Amino acid sequence: MTGQREPGSSREAPPTPAAVEIAFGRYRALLEATVGDAGAGWRDFVDALRRPLPACVWSRPGRVDGAELADLLAEQGVAADPVPWLDGAPGSALLLPAGFKAGQHWWYCAGLAHAQEAVSQLPVRLLDLAPGQRVLDLCAAPGGKTAQIALALGNAGTVLANDFAPERIAALQGNLDRLGVVNVSTTRGDGGNYPAAAGPFDRILVDAPCSSEGTLRRNRSLIDKVGPERSLRMASRQRALLRKAVKLCRPGGRIVYSTCTFAPEENELVVAEVLESLGGRLRLLPAAVPGLASAPGVTHWQGRSLPAELGRCLRVWPHANDTGGFFIAVLEKAPDAPGLPEPVPLGFGLDAGDGDWCTEIAEHYGLATPIEQTYRVHRRTRRGLHLMAPDHAPPAAPAAQGSGMFFQRTNVRPPKLTTAGALLLGAAATRQVLELGAPAERDAYLRREPLTPAPAARADCRPGQVIVRHRGWSLGVAVLHRSGELESLFPRGWSGAATGA
Ligand SMILES: C[S@@+](CC[C@H](N)C(=O)[O-])C[C@H]1O[C@@H](n2cnc3c(N)ncnc32)[C@H](O)[C@@H]1O
Repeated sequence: MTGQREPGSSREAPPTPAAVEIAFGRYRALLEATVGDAGAGWRDFVDALRRPLPACVWSRPGRVDGAELADLLAEQGVAADPVPWLDGAPGSALLLPAGFKAGQHWWYCAGLAHAQEAVSQLPVRLLDLAPGQRVLDLCAAPGGKTAQIALALGNAGTVLANDFAPERIAALQGNLDRLGVVNVSTTRGDGGNYPAAAGPFDRILVDAPCSSEGTLRRNRSLIDKVGPERSLRMASRQRALLRKAVKLCRPGGRIVYSTCTFAPEENELVVAEVLESLGGRLRLLPAAVPGLASAPGVTHWQGRSLPAELGRCLRVWPHANDTGGFFIAVLEKAPDAPGLPEPVPLGFGLDAGDGDWCTEIAEHYGLATPIEQTYRVHRRTRRGLHLMAPDHAPPAAPAAQGSGMFFQRTNVRPPKLTTAGALLLGAAATRQVLELGAPAERDAYLRREPLTPAPAARADCRPGQVIVRHRGWSLGVAVLHRSGELESLFPRGWSGAATGA
């Protein structure tokens, strides 16, 4: 429907009801037929799409729980409500007022939480994850779901996160670093051609690129772009991604296919075609989430009937739970289907003397446990060292862009802990730790402004590198000068986000 804008509508203002009718009118009968008890029909759908979307954050397990995060928000005068139907998902999800910018707050910079639309947290919940599983996230960036998967596995074992777009992989790595994730290797490429040498995987998420119709509440300009032509263009790539996921899945394993679009062409029709082409080796499991008002998958669309089992898919219409729109299919590969051989593992190495770098950092910050005892340390480049979960075992192919977290620069003197390294290791530090208690000092640090903490605050620190904490949570690293001035090393790319509100 490109170019069909309702007169008087603008990219910023909510779309008019007539503009929604032009863009999504083809779903009217479908919605009214399938929504059941979940919602009151077309008018509610249109009204919901015209309202801004509530924000949502989840707490990073091991750093803060949902109640503590809610308390931090309450201190800022922000009411946060738990999302009942996300109970049991990794981290506790809290609903926040529409327009709330989580990334601008100190606790976000400190990796205590991640912002992710509530409905977008559902696919990982339906993956049925358990520690020890080998998991592939085929379309992973910017990584909210990868982080959920990684933490549901206890930050151990092997997750591969793939995406097509290099700049989006950089954003994904930034999120994983901030959240202290060490069990993920990233790969870059067309997921539809993902090498079989990487498999098999116990769980695969295909959070497919789609026409994103369900995100209209936070991306108003979409109203001009959606339509059946666009959906049909997306479908062939989506089929290729899902087919590849089935090949890479271990017999008896699970695949979750999800999109944030309403279009059956990108949802049930994709799943139906893949099911049909794999005749009997794949079955749909009922996708239900207790407490969530959802609708079943579509089984009739534009004169075409689909097998009744497509009704086991899950549709979320925006008005039913005050969310965006979403579609999820949960698939299980038959236990007797042919599988792939186990992959050749990627080798990791250290240069002579790299162990000394770890010892130096551990001594500098008074870490009681040697870093190598908790993590596996490896060197990818001359810049420095990465660490990862001890049992993280990515395959040799495809070549990983990165494995685990870059935690220490060794090409500078003295060697420097990265911000991600400080967020991960800082809680265990017993020396060279400087607590910035005052919100103004905390915010100056995050904005990279010079500051001079009170003598009492720096009494236990020698001049040199220090880990900066606020209320016991690590914020990053800084250099304490002899003058008493603290030079922030908080990453420039992150500091604009911090106003400390
Ligand atoms: C819906 S987004 C994924 C969102 C992500 N799962 C998350 O939760 O943050 C779809 C992603 O698919 C990627 N993509 C598009 N075509 C792809 C392909 N052929 N193979 C792999 N990734 C692809 C896009 O770059 C985009 O990052």
